[in-house]
Amino acid sequence: MSQSHRPATTYTLAGRTVSRMGYGAMQLAGPGVFGPPKDRDAAIAVLREAVSSGVNHIDTSDFYGPHITNHLIREALHPYPDDLVIVTKVGARRGEDASWLPALEPEAIRQAVHDNLRNLGVDVLDVVNLRIMGDIHAPTEASIEREVTALAELQRQGLVRHIGLSNVTSAQVAQARKIAPIVCVQNQYNLVQRGDDALVDELAEQEIAYVPFFPLGGFSPIQSAGLSRVAEAIGATPMQVALVWLLHRAPNVLLIPGTSSVKHLRENIKAAQIALSDVVLAELDALGRA
Ligand SMILES: NC(=O)c1ccc[n+]([C@@H]2O[C@H](COP(=O)([O-])OP(=O)(O)OC[C@H]3O[C@@H](n4cnc5c(N)ncnc54)[C@H](OP(=O)(O)O)[C@@H]3O)[C@@H](O)[C@H]2O)c1
Repeated sequence: MSQSHRPATTYTLAGRTVSRMGYGAMQLAGPGVFGPPKDRDAAIAVLREAVSSGVNHIDTSDFYGPHITNHLIREALHPYPDDLVIVTKVGARRGEDASWLPALEPEAIRQAVHDNLRNLGVDVLDVVNLRIMGDIHAPTEASIEREVTALAELQRQGLVRHIGLSNVTSAQVAQARKIAPIVCVQNQYNLVQRGDDALVDELAEQEIAYVPFFPLGGFSPIQSAGLSRVAEAIGATPMQVALVWLLHRAPNVLLIPGTSSVKHLRENIKAAQIALSDVVLAELDALGRA
Protein backbone atom coordinates (compact mmCIF):
# COMPACT_ATOMS: atom_id res chain seq x y z
CA MET A 1 0.00 0.00 0.00
CA SER A 2 1.23 3.53 -0.77
CA GLN A 3 2.51 5.45 2.28
CA SER A 4 1.20 8.97 3.03
CA HIS A 5 3.54 11.63 4.38
CA ARG A 6 2.93 14.99 5.98
CA PRO A 7 5.81 17.45 5.41
CA ALA A 8 7.84 18.84 8.33
CA THR A 9 6.32 22.12 9.49
CA THR A 10 9.43 24.07 10.51
CA TYR A 11 13.00 24.79 9.36
CA THR A 12 15.87 26.89 10.70
CA LEU A 13 16.28 30.16 8.80
CA ALA A 14 18.89 32.66 9.92
CA GLY A 15 19.33 30.80 13.19
CA ARG A 16 15.59 30.97 14.00
CA THR A 17 12.86 28.36 13.75
CA VAL A 18 10.32 29.41 11.15
CA SER A 19 7.14 27.85 9.90
CA ARG A 20 7.80 26.50 6.41
CA MET A 21 4.61 28.21 5.24
CA GLY A 22 5.53 31.88 5.12
CA TYR A 23 4.02 34.79 3.24
CA GLY A 24 5.21 36.92 0.30
CA ALA A 25 4.05 40.52 0.48
CA MET A 26 4.60 41.53 -3.15
CA GLN A 27 0.93 41.12 -4.12
CA LEU A 28 -0.06 43.78 -1.56
CA ALA A 29 1.14 46.69 -3.71
CA GLY A 30 -0.96 48.09 -6.56
CA PRO A 31 -1.31 46.55 -10.05
CA GLY A 32 2.06 45.60 -11.53
CA VAL A 33 3.55 45.83 -7.99
CA PHE A 34 3.45 49.61 -8.47
CA GLY A 35 1.73 52.22 -6.34
CA PRO A 36 -0.67 51.70 -3.44
CA PRO A 37 -3.16 48.82 -3.08
CA LYS A 38 -6.78 49.38 -4.06
CA ASP A 39 -7.85 48.55 -0.51
CA ARG A 40 -5.28 49.43 2.14
CA ASP A 41 -7.35 48.02 5.03
CA ALA A 42 -7.65 44.69 3.22
CA ALA A 43 -3.85 44.56 2.76
CA ILE A 44 -3.30 45.25 6.48
CA ALA A 45 -5.87 42.55 7.32
CA VAL A 46 -3.97 39.96 5.23
CA LEU A 47 -0.69 40.70 7.04
CA ARG A 48 -2.31 40.53 10.49
CA GLU A 49 -4.14 37.32 9.62
CA ALA A 50 -0.88 35.76 8.41
CA VAL A 51 0.94 36.45 11.66
CA SER A 52 -1.99 35.49 13.87
CA SER A 53 -2.20 32.19 11.96
CA GLY A 54 1.42 31.32 12.80
CA VAL A 55 3.30 32.72 9.78
CA ASN A 56 6.66 33.99 11.06
CA HIS A 57 8.57 34.42 7.79
CA ILE A 58 7.54 37.34 5.59
CA ASP A 59 9.20 38.23 2.31
CA THR A 60 9.25 41.82 1.10
CA SER A 61 11.32 44.46 -0.66
CA ASP A 62 11.48 48.21 -0.71
CA PHE A 63 11.11 48.05 -4.49
CA TYR A 64 7.56 46.65 -4.16
CA GLY A 65 5.49 49.77 -4.67
CA PRO A 66 8.22 51.14 -4.26
CA HIS A 67 8.18 51.40 -0.44
CA ILE A 68 4.50 50.38 -0.28
CA THR A 69 4.76 46.82 1.07
CA ASN A 70 7.34 47.82 3.69
CA HIS A 71 5.07 50.63 4.87
CA LEU A 72 2.12 48.22 5.05
CA ILE A 73 4.16 45.67 7.01
CA ARG A 74 5.23 48.36 9.44
CA GLU A 75 1.71 49.69 9.89
CA ALA A 76 0.19 46.21 10.31
CA LEU A 77 2.81 44.52 12.48
CA HIS A 78 5.17 46.99 14.21
CA PRO A 79 6.33 46.46 16.96
CA TYR A 80 7.21 43.11 15.41
CA PRO A 81 6.71 39.81 17.28
CA ASP A 82 10.05 38.41 18.53
CA ASP A 83 9.77 35.29 16.39
CA LEU A 84 9.03 37.10 13.11
CA VAL A 85 11.77 36.90 10.45
CA ILE A 86 11.38 39.59 7.78
CA VAL A 87 13.41 38.93 4.65
CA THR A 88 13.89 41.86 2.32
CA LYS A 89 15.87 42.27 -0.86
CA VAL A 90 18.06 44.81 -2.59
CA GLY A 91 19.47 45.02 -6.10
CA ALA A 92 16.67 46.60 -8.13
CA ARG A 93 14.84 49.89 -8.40
CA ARG A 94 11.67 50.93 -10.18
CA GLY A 95 11.49 53.24 -13.16
CA GLU A 96 8.75 55.86 -13.38
CA ASP A 97 7.05 53.55 -15.90
CA ALA A 98 7.00 50.72 -13.28
CA SER A 99 9.96 48.96 -14.98
CA TRP A 100 12.40 46.86 -12.91
CA LEU A 101 15.93 48.22 -13.22
CA PRO A 102 19.21 46.91 -11.76
CA ALA A 103 20.55 48.80 -8.73
CA LEU A 104 23.60 46.76 -7.86
CA GLU A 105 26.33 49.38 -7.53
CA PRO A 106 27.78 49.32 -3.98
CA GLU A 107 26.30 52.77 -3.28
CA ALA A 108 22.85 51.64 -4.50
CA ILE A 109 23.04 48.58 -2.23
CA ARG A 110 23.98 50.77 0.74
CA GLN A 111 21.14 53.17 -0.03
CA ALA A 112 18.65 50.30 -0.37
CA VAL A 113 19.63 48.84 3.01
CA HIS A 114 19.07 52.23 4.63
CA ASP A 115 15.71 52.63 2.82
CA ASN A 116 14.59 49.20 4.10
CA LEU A 117 15.70 50.00 7.66
CA ARG A 118 13.74 53.26 7.65
CA ASN A 119 10.63 51.96 5.91
CA LEU A 120 10.38 48.79 8.02
CA GLY A 121 11.18 50.78 11.18
CA VAL A 122 14.06 48.60 12.44
CA ASP A 123 17.70 49.16 13.46
CA VAL A 124 18.93 45.98 11.80
CA LEU A 125 17.49 43.88 8.97
CA ASP A 126 17.02 40.14 9.74
CA VAL A 127 17.89 38.87 6.25
CA VAL A 128 18.72 40.77 3.06
CA ASN A 129 18.61 38.94 -0.26
CA LEU A 130 20.90 40.30 -2.92
CA ARG A 131 18.70 40.19 -6.04
CA ILE A 132 20.87 39.66 -9.11
CA MET A 133 19.33 41.21 -12.21
CA GLY A 134 21.15 39.47 -15.12
CA ASP A 135 17.90 38.26 -16.66
CA ILE A 136 14.78 39.22 -14.74
CA HIS A 137 13.44 35.66 -14.12
CA ALA A 138 16.42 33.43 -14.83
CA PRO A 139 19.92 33.49 -13.39
CA THR A 140 22.85 34.12 -15.73
CA GLU A 141 26.50 33.39 -15.01
CA ALA A 142 28.59 36.43 -14.04
CA SER A 143 30.74 37.38 -11.08
CA ILE A 144 28.76 38.75 -8.11
CA GLU A 145 31.84 39.33 -5.96
CA ARG A 146 31.61 43.12 -5.94
CA GLU A 147 27.91 43.10 -4.96
CA VAL A 148 28.25 40.46 -2.22
CA THR A 149 31.29 42.27 -0.83
CA ALA A 150 29.26 45.49 -0.61
CA LEU A 151 26.45 43.75 1.28
CA ALA A 152 28.92 41.92 3.54
CA GLU A 153 30.39 45.30 4.49
CA LEU A 154 26.92 46.46 5.61
CA GLN A 155 26.65 43.22 7.60
CA ARG A 156 29.98 44.04 9.29
CA GLN A 157 28.56 47.45 10.16
CA GLY A 158 25.69 45.71 12.00
CA LEU A 159 22.91 46.84 9.66
CA VAL A 160 22.20 43.36 8.26
CA ARG A 161 22.13 40.12 10.31
CA HIS A 162 22.11 37.56 7.51
CA ILE A 163 22.64 37.52 3.76
CA GLY A 164 20.67 35.63 1.11
CA LEU A 165 20.79 35.58 -2.68
CA SER A 166 18.12 35.76 -5.35
CA ASN A 167 18.10 34.82 -9.04
CA VAL A 168 21.48 33.10 -8.85
CA THR A 169 23.30 30.02 -10.14
CA SER A 170 25.06 27.34 -8.15
CA ALA A 171 28.44 28.87 -9.09
CA GLN A 172 27.30 32.27 -7.81
CA VAL A 173 26.20 30.72 -4.49
CA ALA A 174 29.66 29.13 -4.18
CA GLN A 175 31.36 32.43 -5.00
CA ALA A 176 29.26 34.32 -2.45
CA ARG A 177 29.91 31.75 0.30
CA LYS A 178 33.63 32.53 0.07
CA ILE A 179 32.78 36.12 1.05
CA ALA A 180 29.99 35.67 3.64
CA PRO A 181 27.68 32.95 5.01
CA ILE A 182 24.55 32.60 2.85
CA VAL A 183 21.34 31.58 4.66
CA CYS A 184 18.84 31.39 1.79
CA VAL A 185 18.44 31.40 -1.97
CA GLN A 186 15.31 32.74 -3.68
CA ASN A 187 14.87 31.66 -7.30
CA GLN A 188 11.91 30.95 -9.56
CA TYR A 189 10.71 27.37 -9.06
CA ASN A 190 7.42 25.52 -8.83
CA LEU A 191 5.68 22.29 -9.79
CA VAL A 192 6.02 23.00 -13.52
CA GLN A 193 9.19 25.14 -13.56
CA ARG A 194 11.89 22.82 -12.35
CA GLY A 195 15.11 24.35 -13.69
CA ASP A 196 16.54 24.48 -10.15
CA ASP A 197 16.02 20.81 -9.28
CA ALA A 198 19.75 20.21 -8.81
CA LEU A 199 20.26 23.45 -6.88
CA VAL A 200 17.43 22.61 -4.44
CA ASP A 201 19.18 19.34 -3.56
CA GLU A 202 22.62 20.94 -3.38
CA LEU A 203 21.39 23.62 -0.97
CA ALA A 204 19.54 21.03 1.14
CA GLU A 205 22.88 19.31 1.72
CA GLN A 206 24.46 22.64 2.64
CA GLU A 207 21.54 23.42 5.02
CA ILE A 208 20.72 26.60 3.12
CA ALA A 209 17.02 27.45 2.76
CA TYR A 210 15.61 27.39 -0.77
CA VAL A 211 12.69 29.83 -1.11
CA PRO A 212 10.96 29.54 -4.49
CA PHE A 213 9.48 32.70 -5.89
CA PHE A 214 6.32 32.27 -7.98
CA PRO A 215 5.51 29.05 -6.04
CA LEU A 216 2.01 29.19 -7.55
CA GLY A 217 3.19 30.39 -10.95
CA GLY A 218 3.21 34.11 -10.13
CA PHE A 219 1.05 36.51 -12.10
CA SER A 220 -0.57 33.61 -14.00
CA PRO A 221 -1.14 30.86 -11.41
CA ILE A 222 -0.37 27.32 -12.61
CA GLN A 223 -3.13 25.63 -14.61
CA SER A 224 -2.72 21.97 -15.32
CA ALA A 225 -5.27 19.24 -15.92
CA GLY A 226 -3.05 16.79 -14.01
CA LEU A 227 -2.84 19.11 -11.01
CA SER A 228 -6.63 19.64 -11.00
CA ARG A 229 -7.20 15.89 -11.20
CA VAL A 230 -4.96 15.21 -8.20
CA ALA A 231 -6.53 18.07 -6.24
CA GLU A 232 -10.04 16.76 -6.82
CA ALA A 233 -9.04 13.23 -5.89
CA ILE A 234 -7.61 14.29 -2.50
CA GLY A 235 -10.21 16.95 -1.72
CA ALA A 236 -7.85 19.93 -1.93
CA THR A 237 -7.54 22.91 -4.29
CA PRO A 238 -4.97 22.92 -7.11
CA MET A 239 -3.07 25.77 -5.40
CA GLN A 240 -2.90 23.79 -2.13
CA VAL A 241 -1.51 20.79 -3.98
CA ALA A 242 1.09 22.96 -5.76
CA LEU A 243 2.22 24.29 -2.38
CA VAL A 244 2.29 21.01 -0.51
CA TRP A 245 4.21 19.37 -3.36
CA LEU A 246 6.91 22.02 -2.80
CA LEU A 247 6.95 21.26 0.94
CA HIS A 248 7.49 17.59 0.11
CA ARG A 249 10.15 18.39 -2.48
CA ALA A 250 12.99 18.94 0.06
CA PRO A 251 13.22 19.83 3.77
CA ASN A 252 14.97 23.16 3.09
CA VAL A 253 12.14 24.51 0.89
CA LEU A 254 10.37 27.44 2.58
CA LEU A 255 7.23 28.89 1.00
CA ILE A 256 6.23 32.52 0.55
CA PRO A 257 3.04 32.36 -1.56
CA GLY A 258 1.70 35.81 -2.32
CA THR A 259 -1.91 36.80 -1.99
CA SER A 260 -3.96 39.91 -1.42
CA SER A 261 -6.89 37.85 -0.13
CA VAL A 262 -7.53 36.56 3.39
CA LYS A 263 -9.50 33.66 1.89
CA HIS A 264 -6.57 32.56 -0.27
CA LEU A 265 -4.15 33.09 2.62
CA ARG A 266 -6.16 30.72 4.84
CA GLU A 267 -6.35 28.17 2.03
CA ASN A 268 -2.59 28.37 1.48
CA ILE A 269 -1.77 28.00 5.18
CA LYS A 270 -3.97 24.89 5.43
CA ALA A 271 -1.98 23.29 2.58
CA ALA A 272 0.92 22.63 4.98
CA GLN A 273 -1.24 20.01 6.75
CA ILE A 274 -1.96 17.91 3.65
CA ALA A 275 -0.43 14.45 3.53
CA LEU A 276 0.50 13.08 0.10
CA SER A 277 1.01 9.45 -0.77
CA ASP A 278 4.05 8.19 -2.67
CA VAL A 279 1.81 7.48 -5.65
CA VAL A 280 0.42 11.02 -5.73
CA LEU A 281 3.89 12.51 -5.25
CA ALA A 282 5.16 10.51 -8.23
CA GLU A 283 2.19 11.66 -10.32
CA LEU A 284 2.84 15.30 -9.43
CA ASP A 285 6.57 14.93 -10.00
CA ALA A 286 5.87 13.71 -13.53
CA LEU A 287 3.90 16.91 -14.33
CA GLY A 288 7.09 18.96 -14.08
CA ARG A 289 8.86 16.67 -16.50
CA ALA A 290 6.01 16.48 -19.04
N1 LIG B 1 13.18 37.34 -5.68
C1 LIG B 1 12.41 37.68 -6.68
O1 LIG B 1 12.88 38.06 -7.74
C2 LIG B 1 10.93 37.57 -6.55
C3 LIG B 1 10.12 37.66 -7.70
C4 LIG B 1 8.75 37.52 -7.55
C5 LIG B 1 8.20 37.32 -6.30
N2 LIG B 1 9.02 37.26 -5.19
C6 LIG B 1 8.46 36.99 -3.85
O2 LIG B 1 7.79 35.75 -3.93
C7 LIG B 1 6.48 35.88 -3.41
C8 LIG B 1 5.56 34.91 -4.12
O3 LIG B 1 5.46 35.24 -5.49
P1 LIG B 1 4.16 35.89 -6.13
O4 LIG B 1 3.28 36.43 -5.07
O5 LIG B 1 4.58 36.80 -7.19
O6 LIG B 1 3.53 34.64 -6.88
P2 LIG B 1 2.75 33.33 -6.39
O7 LIG B 1 2.81 33.19 -4.91
O8 LIG B 1 3.25 32.22 -7.23
O9 LIG B 1 1.27 33.61 -6.89
C9 LIG B 1 0.57 34.74 -6.52
C10 LIG B 1 -0.72 34.74 -7.34
O10 LIG B 1 -1.50 33.61 -6.99
C11 LIG B 1 -2.79 34.03 -6.53
N3 LIG B 1 -3.14 33.16 -5.40
C12 LIG B 1 -2.52 33.05 -4.20
N4 LIG B 1 -3.11 32.12 -3.43
C13 LIG B 1 -4.12 31.61 -4.17
C14 LIG B 1 -5.11 30.65 -3.93
N5 LIG B 1 -5.16 29.98 -2.77
N6 LIG B 1 -6.02 30.39 -4.91
C15 LIG B 1 -5.98 31.05 -6.09
N7 LIG B 1 -5.06 32.00 -6.38
C16 LIG B 1 -4.15 32.29 -5.42
C17 LIG B 1 -2.63 35.47 -6.14
O11 LIG B 1 -3.83 36.19 -6.35
P3 LIG B 1 -4.73 36.75 -5.11
O12 LIG B 1 -4.06 38.00 -4.64
O13 LIG B 1 -6.04 36.98 -5.75
O14 LIG B 1 -4.76 35.66 -4.07
C18 LIG B 1 -1.55 35.94 -7.11
O15 LIG B 1 -2.13 36.30 -8.35
C19 LIG B 1 6.14 37.35 -3.66
O16 LIG B 1 5.07 37.77 -2.86
C20 LIG B 1 7.46 38.02 -3.38
O17 LIG B 1 7.57 38.23 -1.98
C21 LIG B 1 10.36 37.37 -5.32
